Amino acid sequence: ALATALEGQLQLREVAGVPLQPSTVDNWSQIQNFEAKPDDFLICTCPKSGTTWIQEIMDMIEQNGDLEKCQRAIIQHRHLFIEWARPPQPSRVEKAKAMPSPQILRTHLPTQLLPLSFWENNCKFLYVARNAKDCMVSYYHFQRMNQILPDPGTWEEYFETISGKVGWGSWYNHVNGWWEIKDRYQILFLFYADIKRDPKHEIQKVMQFMGKNLDETVLDKIVQETSFEKMKENPMTNCSIVPKSILDQSISLFMRKSTVGD
Ligand code: A3P
Repeated sequence: ALATALEGQLQLREVAGVPLQPSTVDNWSQIQNFEAKPDDFLICTCPKSGTTWIQEIMDMIEQNGDLEKCQRAIIQHRHLFIEWARPPQPSRVEKAKAMPSPQILRTHLPTQLLPLSFWENNCKFLYVARNAKDCMVSYYHFQRMNQILPDPGTWEEYFETISGKVGWGSWYNHVNGWWEIKDRYQILFLFYADIKRDPKHEIQKVMQFMGKNLDETVLDKIVQETSFEKMKENPMTNCSIVPKSILDQSISLFMRKSTVGD
């Protein structure tokens, strides 16, 4: 039964030309009615651009640098992934209604598919962009180890796929779409390579955007605890608890290399 269920997940389906998980497409009208609240923050990324990293950074800031509080759940469960649907689990739309505001949410949706309530409520968005080549390498290895995504095939084949036939669509349209509106909405537009080069400076920007004012020592702790080396060893961020039937880390690690220009 599990094999059949997984098989059903392997074929992506499209919404307005953007390939998405079948369960997301099945629940599309409900997802479009997601009720964002005015104080909500939304983490927006193209897959493999440092979503987990910015999530941990924001959670550490929200918890005032208290690592223990950030250990309350695995990172994927700490911030609602708005377009994720896994029946019979309750939908993210229902879950969000019951959550206290403000909350930190996350999405991989391109601007044209985002539920309207986010625009109507003028929510705060944090976009992280990673260069196309690094995303492609990272996504390729992720699709090899992720048992509910299509097999990426050979590197040469994948080069064709990445132009738009991957989950959440073309990298170019995604980054460009968010870039074009960055001055019209409350968007903090960050770059993976910048966070890598000067984490303290970029984390400070996130802190200010979140309306927080933490001491230098707390900030230093956040820099340390959100480093690749630390997050790679942290069971709440490295996905080691996720079953092998979903993420097979014997094929490729979730915290793989984090290199710029790999
Ligand atoms: P690589 O596959 O190149 O190693 P996402 O969370 O959006 O799926 O992105 C995953 C990518 O972010 C992976 O890239 C992963 O190693 C990298 N990453 C995760 N945490 C990181 C951290 N603390 N510092 C740097 N890179 C990190």
